Amino acid sequence: MRNVELKARDPDPARTLERALALGADDRGEFKQRDTYYSGASGRLKLREHETGGSPLWDELIEYSHELIGYSRPDSTDARTSEYRRVPVADIAPLHEALDAAYGTLVTVTKRRHLLMWEGVRIHLDEVEGLGNFLELEAVAEPGSDLTAEHAKVARLRTELGIEDANLIATSYADLLLETYGGPEGVSAPGTRIVGPDEPGGESATELLRAADEVMHTAHVKYSHFPVGAAFRGVDGQIYVGSNVENASYPQGQCAETSALGALVAAGQTRITEVAVTAAHMEFCPPCGGCRQRLAEFASPDTPVHLGRPDGRRMTTTVGDLLPLAFDFEPRA
Ligand code: THU
Repeated sequence: MRNVELKARDPDPARTLERALALGADDRGEFKQRDTYYSGASGRLKLREHETGGSPLWDELIEYSHELIGYSRPDSTDARTSEYRRVPVADIAPLHEALDAAYGTLVTVTKRRHLLMWEGVRIHLDEVEGLGNFLELEAVAEPGSDLTAEHAKVARLRTELGIEDANLIATSYADLLLETYGGPEGVSAPGTRIVGPDEPGGESATELLRAADEVMHTAHVKYSHFPVGAAFRGVDGQIYVGSNVENASYPQGQCAETSALGALVAAGQTRITEVAVTAAHMEFCPPCGGCRQRLAEFASPDTPVHLGRPDGRRMTTTVGDLLPLAFDFEPRA
């Protein structure tokens, strides 16, 4: 299958929706999509999961609840032709496991998509976690079409919806997330090793990463759309968790690690034996500089720090490797 498509940042999605409806576009409703991209597949293969939140239009809207999409497309801000193949997937978990084992997971893109149709062109108003609001136009080509009609429709919509050149995007959401937050290769620390989820002896790390992942869903991330979860094991063997809590006055926000420290201290604990941090949009999310110092207060230099996702690869480093020469206050005698 082929389509002609255009992607842009959308500074005012409410205005775009209004303009599209005024043109006579048909509102098909909203749903949530999660796309997983794989490292070894040059980023042009994605496994797509859907969630509609009970919309009655479910079947018509999304056709397949899960699908594997392979595509090729040039990176360009001009309306571009994309060739793609869609394969419905009945059971997504084993397919993800196989792709992850073969290629490694690169990045996950989660978005809320509002779909409208105008003369055979799909209009996507996307709110992408970690990136913000975007607008996509996709004119699906008739077989054998020379694409003139599809280009004309996209050009007309581009004008009618007021898409400015400066907002055009040449790449994919996956590329944008990796550019913004860094990929797996963006993280390195001495003595770290990346291992698969089933590495022997990793039960404790997996348990902590799972706790971090669970609490990550409570993150208050209205401004960054970048949820993070942290879980610490206290010397009492219990797990203490926290998520990031942001604020309209940005500097007032706090990291997931800081929230988890509050839970640990409130439970009367003062020592941490193991740390896990997970983020929805980054394979390995390293604690920020401030949190490294906070961890150093309650952990030892050799306390392990696991970064990753509970069912994905993980990287294990230590508090000392993350923060050599931590500040240690020595009050005057
Ligand atoms: N963040 C954390 O919660 N922990 C980290 O280790 C890195 C960053 C949060 C802070 C902010 O809410 C969001 O991620 C984007 O910076």
